Amino acid sequence: MAGGVVATGGGRTHHEGKITLFVIVTCIVAAMGGLLFGYDLGITGGVTSMDQFLLKFFPNVYIQMKDQSGVHHHSQYCKFDNPLLTLFTSSLYLAALVASFFASSITRIMGRKISMFIGGIFFLVGSLLDAFAVNVAMLIIGRLLLGFGVGFCNQSVPLYLSEMAPPKIRGALNIGFQLMITIGILIANLINYKLAKIKNGWRFSLGIGAVPAIILCLGAIFLDDTPNSMIERGKQEKARKMLQRIRGIDDVDEEFQELVNASEEAKKVDNAWKNIIEAKYRPQLVFCSLIPFFQQFTGINVIMFYAPVLFQTLGFGSNASLMSAVITGGVNVVATIISIFSVDKFGRRILFLEGGIQMLLCQIAVGAMIAKEFGVSGVGSFSKGEVNLLLFFICAYVASFAWSWGPLGWLVPSEICSLEIRSAGQAINVSVNMLFTFIIGQVFLMMLCHLKFGLFFFFGGFVVIMTIFIAFFLPETKNVPIEEMNSVWRSHWFWARFIPQDMVNSHAHLQDL
Ligand code: BGC
Repeated sequence: MAGGVVATGGGRTHHEGKITLFVIVTCIVAAMGGLLFGYDLGITGGVTSMDQFLLKFFPNVYIQMKDQSGVHHHSQYCKFDNPLLTLFTSSLYLAALVASFFASSITRIMGRKISMFIGGIFFLVGSLLDAFAVNVAMLIIGRLLLGFGVGFCNQSVPLYLSEMAPPKIRGALNIGFQLMITIGILIANLINYKLAKIKNGWRFSLGIGAVPAIILCLGAIFLDDTPNSMIERGKQEKARKMLQRIRGIDDVDEEFQELVNASEEAKKVDNAWKNIIEAKYRPQLVFCSLIPFFQQFTGINVIMFYAPVLFQTLGFGSNASLMSAVITGGVNVVATIISIFSVDKFGRRILFLEGGIQMLLCQIAVGAMIAKEFGVSGVGSFSKGEVNLLLFFICAYVASFAWSWGPLGWLVPSEICSLEIRSAGQAINVSVNMLFTFIIGQVFLMMLCHLKFGLFFFFGGFVVIMTIFIAFFLPETKNVPIEEMNSVWRSHWFWARFIPQDMVNSHAHLQDL
């Protein structure tokens, strides 16, 4: 999830510049930001399915889960239904939503480095609070702090990355950040799998997040800020020296001048919020709001957050549940890599459409299998063969998300917004995403209890709507430089009506930062 503002595609000239040690270190630090987000996202599913954790903090859920007599809950579907338990997972997103409002100003006024450092400290303290938690309050406060960490890092890290990297690898880094998130989720699943068997393993699962947090903090202390940020804060000479160091060459005049120009232009477009509600930016406003909403209504986080819980609900043993989460986590990583190689070759639309159809077919298959075995009563069990088939469909679903809505849900909003609306567009995208991630995280276990197998058809219904929406309304943006984006809308059968004729290619001077 490359939140924040990553400039992609733009029409800037290609400057000389080596991939210097600086750039490599930058990538490592940025990797930590993505990894931490993925780790904290993926870790709770396994932890909430661990007996010792449930016994300590949620004894009622534990009794419900182990109860075969049906006294507490007859239906398998409702075994984990507990709002406090889901708050443990979802509170992070609420905090991230709140923090991103402050984080964007701090990132702008004080620089990317400070913002990353603050994010790292939040991650560190949050992980430690959770690891040493003695009650539910401490657990949730820890998660809230982690959420603040996510809010800060999702603003600063992608921006830091895109400003440090040579333009030629900038686009790849956008999905690279998403890849690190999926690797973080996979590591979390693997760690849960290994630690579930040891005494108080959950404490280690929650505490291990402190390690990348320390690397991120140290990185933020030792690394310098980006030239763009220095220029923005009036430190022109320092910025030039910095650019020479990171590019590994002396002649950086052209790029430096562009950065200065871009910064001047940016100062002129002081009111991105006012701009984005103008009619001519209707497509961007619609996509920046609907894409994150739809991304969450694919239902992906049901799997990312709750795979082990879901698998246990469906009668997998607790070890098999954790193992299955490792498998889906691995598929997520591999399919994201496939996306990196396909996105500029096949284009965004093909990936969205193929991904949507594949997700839908898998959701129907999973829903139908659960309906057949568990019906509405929620009593039943799968045979070994059925378990494997179910896991296959879930993996095929995760793969289709991971090469479509996963990375594109972040890439497309960032590449369709030109400078005069970019900060507002990104803020909308990030906040809508966090809001619906919170909502899905919070209500999923309750929805499972009430909608039963129908839950999969519910998300399937949304996948139908979003796929039709993409088919009719999203023009292809592959290889379109950002300053030519207006002509794409202008020639679109629907969006054309919002774009005044004289606007085509105006604002071309407001280039990609
Ligand atoms: C989404 C997350 C999701 C992740 C899974 C991201 O693009 O924004 O909500 O958990 O993909 O890999």
